[in-house]
Amino acid sequence: MKDNPISPAAGSARGAGLERVFLALDFATPARALAWLAEHPRAPRRVKVGLELFTSGGPAIIQALNAQERSVFLDLKLHDIPQTVAGAVRAAARLGVEWLTVHAAGGERMLRAAAEAAAEAGGVRPRLLGVTVLTSLDDAALARLDLPGPVPERVVRWARLCREAGLAGVVASAQEAARVRQECGPDFVIVTPGVRPAGTAKNDQARIATPAEALRAGADYLVVGRALTAAPDPDRALAELAAEIENKTAIS
Ligand code: C5P
Repeated sequence: MKDNPISPAAGSARGAGLERVFLALDFATPARALAWLAEHPRAPRRVKVGLELFTSGGPAIIQALNAQERSVFLDLKLHDIPQTVAGAVRAAARLGVEWLTVHAAGGERMLRAAAEAAAEAGGVRPRLLGVTVLTSLDDAALARLDLPGPVPERVVRWARLCREAGLAGVVASAQEAARVRQECGPDFVIVTPGVRPAGTAKNDQARIATPAEALRAGADYLVVGRALTAAPDPDRALAELAAEIENKTAIS
């Protein structure tokens, strides 16, 4: 079952809209990530720790974020033999990680082993999200890998595999979210990166959408990084993002 991301209790001083946002903490060191959060008390409670920050900060950064009562999404995109991935899922559960990514390309046995490890975890049960086709890959890159395309078709097929294997949801671009929602049903969680509020820099994201477009396409949660962390006025960017999400969700 899916949480209601905007329950009445989820409001707080941050604004209910930001409960739909995972802030991508793509900082080089834990010190920088924690300093940014300390400077911006209205930052989302949900934070995403990716490969760079985890490789630099290790479990200590997760523990520091948990001590601030944040919900941690550990985006390690696990892809290995089933037993190894299941062990990593158990280790993440012991760390108190609430969301964790695994690669759909690891195959059904790996996905099922991960889902079983998460379901059996004592304490926090990490909710698993499948990564389907990386947004850095296009049809030509799939062809070079001898993988059938086109990209949207591959995304939907792998999303279905993730659902059948017992994962909570997938990471999908706004362009793919509507089809995934249609194929995988209302309870399947869709987390959408590549979100840029109107008027902000595109950076290296190719398939972008505004927060309202992503939510309209079926996203439950948005991943937002540089549009907040590199904004000239992050507090203003946070307030505008919260307002845009609240306006969109108020009418849906
Ligand atoms: O700064 P920006 O908002 O582009 O950050 C996007 C975040 O989402 C990064 O942490 C990136 O790793 C992640 N992500 C992505 N595209 C995907 C999956 C994850 O941009 N398909």
